[in-house]
Amino acid sequence: MSISPSFLDELRNRVPVSRIVGKKVTWDLRRSNQAKGDWWAPCPFHGEKTASFHVDDQKGFYYCFGCHAKGDALTFLRESDGLDFIEAVKVLAAEAGLPMPERDPAEAKKADRRSVLADAMEAATRHFRMQLGTGQGGAAREYLSGRGLDQAGIDRFELGFAADTRQGLLSALKEKGIPQDVMDEAGLIIVPDDGGTPYDRFRGRIIFPIRDARGRAIAFGGRAMDPNARAKYLNSPETALFDKGRNLYNVAAARSAVSRGAPLIVAEGYMDVIALSLAGFEGAVAPLGTAITEDQLRLMWRISPEPVIMLDGDAAGQRAALRLIDLALPMTGPGQALRFVTLPTGQDPDDLIRAHGAGALQKLLDGARPLVDLLWEREVEGREFDSPERRAALDASLRKSIALIPDEATRNHYTAALKERRFELFGGRRGAGRLTPGPRDWRGRRGQPEPARAQTRATPLGQQDAGDATLESMVLALCAAYPGLASRVESRLELLAPVDEGRAALCHDLLAGTDSAAGRAALARIMEDAYVRASPLIRQPQDAEKAAVVLGNILDKIEARRAAMAELSRAEAEIQGMVDEGLTWRMSESARARHLAEKPAIEDSTDLNEDRGALSARLASYFDTRRTKGGG
Ligand code: UTP
Ligand code: MN
Repeated sequence: MSISPSFLDELRNRVPVSRIVGKKVTWDLRRSNQAKGDWWAPCPFHGEKTASFHVDDQKGFYYCFGCHAKGDALTFLRESDGLDFIEAVKVLAAEAGLPMPERDPAEAKKADRRSVLADAMEAATRHFRMQLGTGQGGAAREYLSGRGLDQAGIDRFELGFAADTRQGLLSALKEKGIPQDVMDEAGLIIVPDDGGTPYDRFRGRIIFPIRDARGRAIAFGGRAMDPNARAKYLNSPETALFDKGRNLYNVAAARSAVSRGAPLIVAEGYMDVIALSLAGFEGAVAPLGTAITEDQLRLMWRISPEPVIMLDGDAAGQRAALRLIDLALPMTGPGQALRFVTLPTGQDPDDLIRAHGAGALQKLLDGARPLVDLLWEREVEGREFDSPERRAALDASLRKSIALIPDEATRNHYTAALKERRFELFGGRRGAGRLTPGPRDWRGRRGQPEPARAQTRATPLGQQDAGDATLESMVLALCAAYPGLASRVESRLELLAPVDEGRAALCHDLLAGTDSAAGRAALARIMEDAYVRASPLIRQPQDAEKAAVVLGNILDKIEARRAAMAELSRAEAEIQGMVDEGLTWRMSESARARHLAEKPAIEDSTDLNEDRGALSARLASYFDTRRTKGGG
């Protein structure tokens, strides 16, 4: 049954997320701000003592900084109480004191049809499983046991067998009263266009039932027993139930394993997933007979922030990995990363486990490499960079790839990581070309110092944590007060992206050893900040080591805050993208509109000031403590 968006909007307006979540958690009231609808608690989805679970009533969602669980009130009910969508809506409606709406007839019809198809698929699953146990299934059983599968494994994956007859399934389902058009629509039989007799799609094949995240049987994969068969694997066609590009084999079991701490492993084939699971790597999934799609990446990231892609060690597997780089870069960011395992040439996970055991696989997992490594390899492998032109071409192609990354902080870290590798490759000739476009490359130390200009865009405040400004003042003041300090944290300063252009100029001056009017003016303003002036390290610059430690701590804090902010906004964006019966997005849109309408613009800056005040106070007390401790 499907529910109208406006009804869900209404529920959302009436029931704050915290009211639903509050039944399952104990709020950390010191950290929460009830008046603002800003709540913190220990996460109900993973064991923890600290409160890293955040609920935002204004935005209407929750997010855990620990396990990345996220969603709205409906998601929460579904994941914490295991309710299905309709049940969750019912709970919310009761909470809101609203009666459930009547069913939308057109939608209801479609949903009904899907459930009819699902019933047929379920009956087919039973039929295939039963067939495996009969006399006709003898060779199939032998084949499976030859591949190391015992009865428990067969049952766990519900493996079955389609006998090599033309109407085995067809007549079995007919007997159960399932109409032929349903079998056809479910992709179970083939109805010839010329009016010939319909026949079973799967014949003489081992059957792998494919279930969606909710456990519905949506498709079958069929492996030929005959090594000369035209297709080794035959899969169900796309149907109202089955969208190849949006599902993954074994997704439900993998999700629950990942929630218990298993890594999410993405293999190529059904047999790989089974071998991995039986060897104890239960967070294993595979695409369904096609290359990994964007939708599948999104689905993976909803399960784990860092799936491990395990592609076969053959040429096709490697090509698939390289294609995946371009697919993933425009989507990557905090909480949406990938790692890659390259298997030995000619082996898939199934072969490897059978030949060398689970330990060998674990070793490969431990050595899984990040996306940036693969990107680098793809660009440099088998090439020589013995001329300025070739190096420039490398820089250009790296730049192009980096530009695909939407998240600024992630982009910066890719730039830094690739710069480092490039530096190693070119044997220290740093000036040999630029990876980042001119103004961003602040290193003026070697050649002519560049004229000071605004190096970085001023980051819009909405995107940047307001507290950053005060922390940033301290960073710049320390670097200005202690000569040589800036160069010790060069790469981190480069990534600072200061809040305004004056500070950006100052940052450039500090790194390049230049002196600009804009930089000087910015420093003067920074030195007026009461908290900067209160710092003994600034008042009497003496202990450079202490200054370096404090600077490191502050930079850690800034980076951690930004990563958290980016993570949060990414989570928010993803929640908006979640197609939960297509409706969550509309709900969050309406919540946003409501929020904008209710809150005068001015209040935002008040919030920012409050935030900044609190941070400054914390910073001040931090320096106070140091003063008392240091005795000077
Ligand atoms: P593989 O050929 O690597 O499969 O194809 P596998 O799982 O290792 O097969 P075994 O070990 O020989 O039984 C990987 C996946 O590609 C799809 C299937 O989803 C398979 O699991 N595939 C492969 C097809 O859809 N059709 C084919 O003809 C072959
Ligand atoms: Mn295989």
